[in-house]
Amino acid sequence: MTTTVEETLVLIKPDGVARNLTGQILARVEAKGYTIADLRMLEPSREMLVQHYAEHEGKPFFEPLVEFMGSGPVVAVRLRGNRVIEGFRSLAGATEPTTAAPGTIRGDLGRDWGESVQKNLVHGSDSTESATRELGIWFA
Ligand code: TYD
Ligand code: MG
Repeated sequence: MTTTVEETLVLIKPDGVARNLTGQILARVEAKGYTIADLRMLEPSREMLVQHYAEHEGKPFFEPLVEFMGSGPVVAVRLRGNRVIEGFRSLAGATEPTTAAPGTIRGDLGRDWGESVQKNLVHGSDSTESATRELGIWFA
């Protein structure tokens, strides 16, 4: 096995911060062996969020998503580790908290908010290209 050290962008979304789950979520990624290379808490501007979610522009959930992500503080993490991009997505679990597997962040801690699928606690970059692009937005 070769080692492929990567960096990914993890966000603890406003629901995760508001529910005081920041410590628990960070404990899970640290326990897995990933390194917190940088971390900041901020209330992102609409401009940042539109850039961040550019791939979803025009979809019906885009506006509610951007509005929700700007509704309170977010914790942004530059997370480093071997194959961390895929690894964090695996720790996070499926997008929808109800169908996310137990053992994952979303599966264990995520609630079913009905229509509000955007409240799923965390974001993780989905590819090396996304990670580079997104880290540039949040850690400019
Ligand atoms: P997506 O990139 O598909 O999911 P993931 O966060 O697992 O990479 O979607 C981005 C976010 O948009 C997702 O975390 C929650 C929200 N979302 C909705 O609100 N409704 C939807 O139908 C989808 C697909 C996503
Ligand atoms: Mg995504």
